[in-house]
Amino acid sequence: MNHPETILVTGGGGYIGSVNAAALLQQGRRVIVVDNFERGHREAVPPRAVIETCDLRDEAALNRVFEAHRVDAVMHFGAYAYVGESMTRAEEYFHNNFIGGYHLLNAMRRHGVQRIVFSSTCATYGEVDNVPIDETQPTNPINPYGRSKLAFELLIRSYEEAYGIRHAILRYFNAAGAALEQGEDHDPETHLIPLVLFTALGKREAVSIFGTDYDTPDGTCIRDYIHVSDLADAHLRALEYIKQESITCNLGTEQGYSVLEVIQAARAVTGHPIPVREAPRRPGDPPRLIASARKAQRLLDWKPRYVDIQEIIHTAWQWFLAHPDGYKRK
Ligand code: UFG
Repeated sequence: MNHPETILVTGGGGYIGSVNAAALLQQGRRVIVVDNFERGHREAVPPRAVIETCDLRDEAALNRVFEAHRVDAVMHFGAYAYVGESMTRAEEYFHNNFIGGYHLLNAMRRHGVQRIVFSSTCATYGEVDNVPIDETQPTNPINPYGRSKLAFELLIRSYEEAYGIRHAILRYFNAAGAALEQGEDHDPETHLIPLVLFTALGKREAVSIFGTDYDTPDGTCIRDYIHVSDLADAHLRALEYIKQESITCNLGTEQGYSVLEVIQAARAVTGHPIPVREAPRRPGDPPRLIASARKAQRLLDWKPRYVDIQEIIHTAWQWFLAHPDGYKRK
């Protein structure tokens, strides 16, 4: 009988990484979580995962992790991920997201690990006129966050050509919702759905709507919200797929919801009036981001289970009701 695969999950204490770690364990894999817990949470790591507290920027420490464990493949989530913050902290973003990734690929190479699934972003496309966005669109990121992710994509491709390391580059649209044991806990929180639900919980007085004069039907920005459990399902499929060949694909529902529609859906889910206030546009926000996810559907045989925004918000609402102050203070 085959031994269970061991997957090294960077950023396994983060929102998307922790849900993936749980999904891997559920499938019978062994999981080594590598996280420095600067922004992730120990409490988010599923109990059966092995924890290695390690910063990807520390190459020697990372190599020791690879020496200590026989790793079959890597899922790489560990990164800084605030677009706004990246605008003034380019050095930190490239150091963590690019140099950290470089160390990771080198450690893989040194230890004969041949597969990586990488958490990339639709921010690699930049401002795109054509929606839905498919993978043939040019990549022209408009902030250091998106550029650092794209730079690492290029490195990964080079490491396949030179050293045969296979990759899945998965470009997520707006990750949302919660699994049973894991949800969103960012500090500071900047994402729309958590902030809307904090208002329903009475932790905030109102939700700011950043711009009501966009060229969209109701004047507010449109996004494609993809459930975090559907992301995990795609990652598991990608991990298998890349045994045959590498893949780069979008992950989204192909449905767009405006900021106002999200707030309206949250009112229906929570039964709370959720007051709003109009605010100026947030710099760098594209009016409309909707995925074409045909490629993932076709090649990974993947289909998101959650397409209805109320259902997605409902899972997040259950999580926030159970963890109103996040992981640390539940
Ligand atoms: N928004 C508000 N009020 C808020 C918060 C957000 O109106 O209080 C709006 C934003 O302006 C945007 C939409 O809600 O139009 C969604 O904003 P989020 O901050 O939730 O998500 P973003 O679309 O800005 O960012 C996400 C990911 C990034 C990724 C980016 C790609 O969080 O990692 O998509 O553009 F890079």
